[in-house]
Amino acid sequence: MHAESGSEIRSRCAADQSGAATPPASTCRGIVLTPLTAADLPAVLAIERVSFPSPWSASMFLQELDLALSRVVVARSDALLGYLCRWIVADEMQVLNVAVAPAARRRGIGAALVAEARREARARGCASLTLEVRRGNVAARGLYRSQGFAEVGVRPGYYARDEDALILRCVLTHD
Ligand SMILES: CC(C)(COP(=O)(O)OP(=O)(O)OC[C@H]1O[C@@H](n2cnc3c(N)ncnc32)[C@H](O)[C@@H]1OP(=O)(O)O)[C@@H](O)C(=O)NCCC(=O)NCCS
Repeated sequence: MHAESGSEIRSRCAADQSGAATPPASTCRGIVLTPLTAADLPAVLAIERVSFPSPWSASMFLQELDLALSRVVVARSDALLGYLCRWIVADEMQVLNVAVAPAARRRGIGAALVAEARREARARGCASLTLEVRRGNVAARGLYRSQGFAEVGVRPGYYARDEDALILRCVLTHD
């Protein structure tokens, strides 16, 4: 997830999804989750730039709005506090980008965003969610562990400075 070049991620696109969007809004601990709109971009980019060494650009987020397989969910209370971008490819949800404003971290917003992705993946009949995370990203690895993800592989030297990407997966059960 969030490789140095977005094209690496985008090139993995193999199939589209069909079907209507899931319900547009939900609440969790005073946080409202809604789909990204163009009006949200300045706030999203401000978080993106302080969260990643190689932030996504405005045009990259705008491309996501035009992709049928993509959905970006933003979390807000009074202000926009975080977001998650996911794709659904065949029966797999790929989480491409998650970030929370530094001042709002450790308040459960990241967990709420990932839980919403899991809820949507289950509702759409996905078998699993997958993502990549830097080996050294302690916060993100803790978040994903707490949300049921387990390590299933490694991409050696995937990120800048030769840092490994860990491939994490959360397998969904359908009753
Ligand atoms: C990773 C990130 C999204 C987590 O968001 P968050 O809103 O702070 O996460 P939450 O408050 O929901 O935390 C959920 C759990 O994740 C783990 N966690 C979160 N931050 C952690 C940290 N700094 N150290 C260790 N564990 C952490 C904890 O288990 C936590 O539960 P707890 O608070 O009850 O202990 C946030 O730190 C961030 O935006 N980081 C920069 C961008 C980034 O690295 N994105 C992920 C790319 S793969």
